[in-house]
Amino acid sequence: MTTFDYAPALESRTIVTIDPQYGHFINGSFTKGSNHFASINPSDETVLSHIALGSAQDIDTAVDAARVAYESVWSKLSGKERGKYLYRIARILQERAREFAVLESLDNGKPIRESRDVDVPLAAAHFFYHAGWADKLDYAGMGNSPRPHGVAGQIIPWNFPILMLSWKIAPALAAGNTVVLKPAETTSLTALLFAQVCQQAELPAGVVNIVTGDGSTGAALVEHPGIDKIAFTGSTEVGKAIARAIAPTKKKATLELGGKAANIVFEDAPIDETVEGIVNGIFFNQGHVCCAGSRLLLQEDVAEEVLSKLKVRMAKIRVGDPLDKNTDLGAINSSEQLLKIRDLSKSGDDEGAERWSPPCAVPEKGFWFPPTIFTGVTQAHRIAREEIFGPVLSVLTFRTPQEAIEKANNTPYGLSAGIWSEKGSRILWAAGQLKAGVIWANTFNKFDPASPFGGYKESGWGREGGRHGLTAYLKDAESNNE
Ligand code: NAI
Ligand code: MG
Repeated sequence: MTTFDYAPALESRTIVTIDPQYGHFINGSFTKGSNHFASINPSDETVLSHIALGSAQDIDTAVDAARVAYESVWSKLSGKERGKYLYRIARILQERAREFAVLESLDNGKPIRESRDVDVPLAAAHFFYHAGWADKLDYAGMGNSPRPHGVAGQIIPWNFPILMLSWKIAPALAAGNTVVLKPAETTSLTALLFAQVCQQAELPAGVVNIVTGDGSTGAALVEHPGIDKIAFTGSTEVGKAIARAIAPTKKKATLELGGKAANIVFEDAPIDETVEGIVNGIFFNQGHVCCAGSRLLLQEDVAEEVLSKLKVRMAKIRVGDPLDKNTDLGAINSSEQLLKIRDLSKSGDDEGAERWSPPCAVPEKGFWFPPTIFTGVTQAHRIAREEIFGPVLSVLTFRTPQEAIEKANNTPYGLSAGIWSEKGSRILWAAGQLKAGVIWANTFNKFDPASPFGGYKESGWGREGGRHGLTAYLKDAESNNE
């Protein structure tokens, strides 16, 4: 059989201009910043720019700016006026979509196909959606004239940098809060480009402030007495530290943490569609997804067929240059994350699970891990319990629907789950039993700004998105949710 290789189809990077060095965005303009560190391209380890390490002093200046902007401007504007700014930001994100997509793929390592078709359009959609809410808060059953908290401190991870920024900033601004946001240390560049969008939209100075840095910068933000509300997305470990830090204070918090989602395939599932859904569930964004379908639960009767079709499909996954439009699986975001994926995969080998990857050549430079599945996994294995946050799928089997539910819920997490079945009654029955905040049926990893997102147990507190997510940015509105 003749096969034809794809020629590379590289997206041009000339559309982005990256400065050699960035400061923080405070009170509407860029500071010089200090203690700069390199931000690299994880696909080839080249240095893209140098980012400032925010100090407690930088956080203090930013929180002051946000407070002044809140009191003097933003809290005085009508919802309709706030909405106009959000619409403007949304439109600029659309106009500059290619620039954002290329920059995101350079800095994060994700395929351009995903940054172009998922991250950036969804980020704009979040601003459009929340722009529409800004003037309707008084009429949505969220209490009598709901009020914003004031200044929100927001900390985001590296897996969806511009998208997580929009999940945080859009509802905060729509509800009338001002913000200080800290991007993740490996992926700050699109947040800094977003700061330029705020300038372009003529957003009043101080309404959005962006302070770059690492965990110490994030901790200074959490501890700052001028913060009224914390919104965090990241690891469960840091989420717990934040919960401890704010426990003695009046600060409100939403925490969106890890996951170990079960993707359950019943014997009557449409197999070909299911295989696509499994691939999308775990290999989307290199598996750097808190709601990834990282535990595949197969009913025994169909396990063999699903696995053999899955292997054929996995052999077609194209691993390589994130800027190549043919690429399905890009680079692992950092050397630290690669080490973690390798370490957990090795524990899978050591504990007796069986590893399989298709033959796949990866580039020499950069951080890479092939699409991988482990079969023969038991519930006690680390790879069945811990979040790997990489392109690694753990496969378990079950005999009865009840056993599937028990295995699915046997996890400290509870963020998402997937159900594959042609029977509506089985889908509804299973969805009712699963302890997960988001449940997909016959699909996976679908997101919409109108849909609340969040978890049970160690997956976090509160919801983001939709009406539920908005209430977290309004005083006393949460209790009116039911
Ligand atoms: P992390 O939780 O350390 O980092 C997330 C954000 O929190 C970053 O902006 C970081 O600078 C900040 N941060 C770190 N320590 C902080 C502190 N003490 N106070 C305030 N902010 C702090 O996550 P990391 O180290 O990048 O990844 C470790 C693991 O966490 C991953 O392997 C993955 O399993 C999980 N993770 C889950 C995410 C999710 O979306 N649920 C996102 C990122 C990581
Ligand atoms: Mg960390």
